Amino acid sequence: MERYNYGMVGLGVMGRNLLYNIADNGFSIAGFDLDKEKVKELEEGATSEMKVKGTGTLEDFVSALETPRKIILMVPAGKPVDAVLESITPLLSSGDIVIDAGNSYFEDTNRRIADLASKNLHFMGMGVSGGEKGARTGPSIMPGGDVEAFHLLKPMLEAISAKVDQEACTAYMGKGSAGNYVKMVHNGIEYAIMQLISEAYDLLKRGAKLNNEQLYEVFRDWNNGDMNSFLIEITRDIFQQRDSLTDNYLVDQILDKAGAKGTGKWTSEQAMEIGVSIPTIDIAVTSRILSAYKDERIQASGLYSEKEITSPEDINIFIKEVGDALYLATLISYAQGLSLLVKASDEYHFEIPLKDVVKIWRGGCIIRSVLLEKFYSAYTRNPNLSNILLDKEISVIVKEKVNSLRKTAAFAALNGISSLGIQTALGYFDAYTTESLPVNLIQAQRDYFGAHTYQRIDREGVFHTSWESTNN
Ligand code: 6PG
Repeated sequence: MERYNYGMVGLGVMGRNLLYNIADNGFSIAGFDLDKEKVKELEEGATSEMKVKGTGTLEDFVSALETPRKIILMVPAGKPVDAVLESITPLLSSGDIVIDAGNSYFEDTNRRIADLASKNLHFMGMGVSGGEKGARTGPSIMPGGDVEAFHLLKPMLEAISAKVDQEACTAYMGKGSAGNYVKMVHNGIEYAIMQLISEAYDLLKRGAKLNNEQLYEVFRDWNNGDMNSFLIEITRDIFQQRDSLTDNYLVDQILDKAGAKGTGKWTSEQAMEIGVSIPTIDIAVTSRILSAYKDERIQASGLYSEKEITSPEDINIFIKEVGDALYLATLISYAQGLSLLVKASDEYHFEIPLKDVVKIWRGGCIIRSVLLEKFYSAYTRNPNLSNILLDKEISVIVKEKVNSLRKTAAFAALNGISSLGIQTALGYFDAYTTESLPVNLIQAQRDYFGAHTYQRIDREGVFHTSWESTNN
């Protein structure tokens, strides 16, 4: 009986597209799904060159695979992954490999690695980014954990991933659940960039009174320049999309309440947990939460006088400044996310290669942008860079754009245009670049009311003072 090189469990759009991508690259692959319709559609959608087989039972699926079996799971994170593992592990042989390609939480992966290892099975957490199109044509792939298993998978992963300068957008992300952690932080940065783009849109629309055709032209020009990125590119296209149900542009018909599947929230929770400041990512997560309070926002907007927006004197200068502000706030968001990876790598002994992370984010993933090339150069100059803002060449770019960030933040604040992402990016930058922060006063307050002690600038040690109240 012919044996297949790979197996895919989960034939939804992501699973099916990744399976076809693997088949397109000359590997034979069997697919399984509980939904018999999806299994039927799989072979119908395959080309004659592909060696693809749909299987209706796990037994047939497992017996169709060559050993050691290499099985990719593309099922929703959480209980569905555990359910599949419970059903499939009894059918597997020692040395088989299960790769979870969903957005699983890293601690779940840690548990699964240990559980399968006790059964002489390999389990890997592997982030896959690029959406449905990326899965089919070339995603950015973030595998981590079992090095032996990684080397078995490497030829296939390099074949199916996106390419930049003929280099595959995949690399070993580090030990244990590092692959999931890197993907989680990718999504946190994604949230921040999407928030910042939405704020730039609001400033141009309400501040400069641009219509959708003009917004399309601005984002087209930005995407043709140093702000080239996937998210800028799709935003350009969104402003051209007509609504099939009305004569309006579709973007104007969409309700302003944002959803989220959770990976951004996990990033914020983790940063708090291990003590890393990522305020622009945090604000992107909480801005989606605030957007859900639509009824209260309608009530509140009726209560507070509508701020008259003072249009900028020179629209073209304003557009340039908003663009520079968006560029720099985006760079600062990457800096925050990457600094979390640096600390997490140390905290969890992942040994994450930051240089390879930014290298494989250059293509295929949702946050791919020309900025990643600059970060790749920065980590090549110093692989142990704790924050990309400390790189000399990056600092030159920052200094060129920071005045526009300040002016844009000021315009938004003075005109009552909410710009939480832009404001926190600027605030983070100013705090991170301030040698003496006013937290000496916080230490004094903590010691005054709670005797929590403080350190001094002029000598070693820990001190406490019985603070004299001057009003008695
Ligand atoms: C990717 C995306 C993807 C993510 C969706 C939904 O890298 O391809 O990040 O993994 O799940 O974008 O994310 P939210 O629902 O959390 O916005």
